Amino acid sequence: MKKKELGFATTAIHVGQEPEPSTGAVTVPIFLTSTYVQEEIGKNKGYEYARVSNPTRTRLEQNLAAVEGGRSAHVFGSGMAATTAVTQAFLKQGDHLICGHDTYGGTPRLFNQVIANYGVEFSYVNTSDPAAVKKAMRRNTKIIWIETPTNPLMVLTDIQAIAKIAHDGGAELAVDNTFMSPYLQSPLEFGADMVVHSTTKFLNGHSDGLGGVVVATKPEHAEKLAFLQKAVGAILSPFECWLVLRGVKTLAVRMEKHESNGRAVAAFLNKHRKVKKVFYPGLPDHPQFKLAKKQMRGFGSMITFETGSLENANKLLRRVQVCFLAESLGGVETLISHPATMTHAALGVEGRRKIGLTDGLVRISVGIEDVDDLIADLDQALSAI
Ligand SMILES: Cc1ncc(COP(=O)(O)O)c(C=O)c1O
Repeated sequence: MKKKELGFATTAIHVGQEPEPSTGAVTVPIFLTSTYVQEEIGKNKGYEYARVSNPTRTRLEQNLAAVEGGRSAHVFGSGMAATTAVTQAFLKQGDHLICGHDTYGGTPRLFNQVIANYGVEFSYVNTSDPAAVKKAMRRNTKIIWIETPTNPLMVLTDIQAIAKIAHDGGAELAVDNTFMSPYLQSPLEFGADMVVHSTTKFLNGHSDGLGGVVVATKPEHAEKLAFLQKAVGAILSPFECWLVLRGVKTLAVRMEKHESNGRAVAAFLNKHRKVKKVFYPGLPDHPQFKLAKKQMRGFGSMITFETGSLENANKLLRRVQVCFLAESLGGVETLISHPATMTHAALGVEGRRKIGLTDGLVRISVGIEDVDDLIADLDQALSAI
């Protein structure tokens, strides 16, 4: 089945999720095998060794390529392993990558503390400003890496504008689409060349497995990424592939609920007198509300807000009951976190100051509970400030 013929939810539930042919099982089996019997030298059923390929993984990769609208998908052991695979597949010594300046903190940590050791150069730019990106382009720029909205300041980047700058300069655009999920944003439709997800988040959706995927658009991408799965081996286990296959089946309904709860919580926080500022692209006073409506099919459920100080943030975070104080996002349960000491600790004080990430910021991944319970919980917790 081709994606174009089907709606999003049907694609998510059917592509790669076809019944198992030998038994008719309606769910894809978890193929727990490290190797496959061969009939004779060079004659097999398409599978030789599980690091190279596994039928459960094949199904997930077909599914994720379809929901993201790409030509191929390759899954890795975590979102960071997927990011690493992009650098290993497409960058070599002397190449340059432009990265958004307030992405997930683990991304610049990987680039600066690991990949830079192999002679790759990195620049960090406010990618919401296309002119700044254009200025940062060099002859050796091979990739522009963006997150939109950014984590945690919810700043948008115009995917179409940045794709054009990348292509004019002979580079490619990779978009980390973790915050939006393929249900709410399709970067490839706006000219991006690759999409990366931490499947740990909305795609899995149940906070019970790590994973990452690179969805790509060209045959040479697929070839290099498949080679990396084999050569480096940072692949996703069959069990975790199955968890993501199961999670994706409900992605459309979960995202609808995440989205409506997100809007309601953002509106509540925006009116609360203890909250100094709310960062959410669905609020009409968000500076890029128009761009949000152009390139997103909804505003999502990631919200950041300013409490004024570390002390205030901690007062609130100590008091929440329904919301769990925890890192991560995209699960059915509402997770509330403190970027300065959690996801963005690796940036250091100076790095956080540069991008305006204060100690008073709190980030919520709004889950799919009853929204009145979430609002009541946040209200009682805010009263501690
Ligand atoms: C936007 C984003 N990208 C990538 C990652 C890394 O994913 P993982 O934790 O699965 O390695 C995260 C993790 O929080 C993230 O929030």
